[in-house]
Amino acid sequence: MREFSESYLSRTREGMWGDSRDALEPLALDSRDRILDVGCGTGELSRVLAAESPGEVIGCDADIDLLEAAGEHVPVVASDAFQLPFPDDTFDLVICQALLINLPEPAAALAEFARVSRDLVAAVEPNNAAVEIDSSVDAERTLERRARRAYLDGVSTDVALGADAGDAFETAGLEVLETRRYDHVRTIEPPYGELALVAARRKATGAGLTDDRETMLSGGLSESEYDDLRSSWREMGRTVVDQMETREYHREEAVPFFVTAGRVD
Ligand SMILES: C[S@@+](CC[C@H](N)C(=O)[O-])C[C@H]1O[C@@H](n2cnc3c(N)ncnc32)[C@H](O)[C@@H]1O
Repeated sequence: MREFSESYLSRTREGMWGDSRDALEPLALDSRDRILDVGCGTGELSRVLAAESPGEVIGCDADIDLLEAAGEHVPVVASDAFQLPFPDDTFDLVICQALLINLPEPAAALAEFARVSRDLVAAVEPNNAAVEIDSSVDAERTLERRARRAYLDGVSTDVALGADAGDAFETAGLEVLETRRYDHVRTIEPPYGELALVAARRKATGAGLTDDRETMLSGGLSESEYDDLRSSWREMGRTVVDQMETREYHREEAVPFFVTAGRVD
């Protein structure tokens, strides 16, 4: 199972759903009774669900360290997405965010979601191949594209699933109702918050790339190509840190997410 840190999730989810919740409308959150958020991590989506719904929201994840953070906001249960510890028809909405892109068999997980739901199943999944970056550091855009391509070539699950999640819904026997797009736009500009400073330091030390090294190498990147990418990456990171010191640094990232809603037969 791919692991995520609490700091990665708070950094990458910062501001998500804060600007618009229109893409969640087909889920009729205001009339839900009991919602299960599978692969809830630190509960970033669970909090939005709890704010929008009068019903009970339960978070579930296989990583008990992340669940501890989610548990500060909603009740949580440790569980594997493929074997949920609930009887049939327990919930009227079973949902996940950025879970299916990390699973080898998304349709099998959706079939399990359908078992414990008596009405809707939904997935909020990004297309990580279509992320757009704009930055005041020229090299940042091209290097991020290079690193992303190398990562996509090596990753074993479909991290670009996004709008195509509907196919997995149909394989799981769900009737697809609608797919809506939500662009999660993160802007870094002065005054810089702690999360932005951490992200800049990770670039300057190459920490983010190191995490993905094995994936990139298994996708065909050679050791020397990786070393070359890392050295350019760190140089770019140092420019980011320098520009932050003079308050010139500006970055915008748009990640397209797709909300797919399906009905249980
Ligand atoms: C990218 S994170 C998304 C977390 C959260 N939904 C969000 O959007 O911030 C993926 C989450 O799925 C969890 N996960 C991965 N495989 C799982 C599995 N088989 N069963 C349950 N949780 C799983 C991970 O522990 C992680 O918390």
